[in-house]
Amino acid sequence: NKKKDLQDKTIIITAGPTREPIDPVRFISNHSTGKMGYAIAEKAAERGAKVYLISGPTALKAPKGVRLISVNSAKDMQRRIMEHFDEAQIIIKSAAVADYAPAVAHDQKIKKKDENLTIELVKNPDILYELGKIKGDKILVGFAMETQNLIENAKEKVLKKNLDFIVANDLFTEGAGFATDTNIVKIIDRGGNIESVPKMSKHQLADLILDRVMYLQQLGEVN
Ligand code: C5P
Repeated sequence: NKKKDLQDKTIIITAGPTREPIDPVRFISNHSTGKMGYAIAEKAAERGAKVYLISGPTALKAPKGVRLISVNSAKDMQRRIMEHFDEAQIIIKSAAVADYAPAVAHDQKIKKKDENLTIELVKNPDILYELGKIKGDKILVGFAMETQNLIENAKEKVLKKNLDFIVANDLFTEGAGFATDTNIVKIIDRGGNIESVPKMSKHQLADLILDRVMYLQQLGEVN
């Protein structure tokens, strides 16, 4: 008896880490497991949405009814998002995108040689920032994981990246962050309103995030 309130919606959800190649055997990445994004994708599909789950490498199975698009680097992720951008009314960016990538991806394995090895990094595109510039009336949701000044940083990101709201969590809070099955977050909107969400499973939180998205969609339709 689940509600099918996302029946006529197309949603892009990004999840997991990105991998930025150093050479054919090595990469730079992070601890993201993709659990939060996969939970949102699963719930959105259950609620009737057409879901594109654009995911970096994870150990998770694609949820039922979800169109999984596997990517590696941030640039791959950006390209695959843009292929489906026009079709989507809602974009939720839970992926932990690497902020920097090696300036060159060597085609041969780098050999062990000197005592020190320097790898030059260059900034990746900020995918969410770029989406914020072209969002129009789409609903755009970001995530922020911080180790300090959570609220302050999240408030700034909502505005800078032109998001409808941001889901912020503190990496050092027990029961929040990477690899856990629960999360404790604050949802911060463009007006700086803060909703403190108590500890809950990532699946419960996924439903709550989708509820907030649908509320904004309906407001948009009325106005
Ligand atoms: O700026 P920060 O990385 O903390 O912002 C996090 C949000 O921005 C997440 O939603 C993440 O998916 C997105 N992001 C992005 N491209 C980047 C870095 C972050 O889309 N290069």
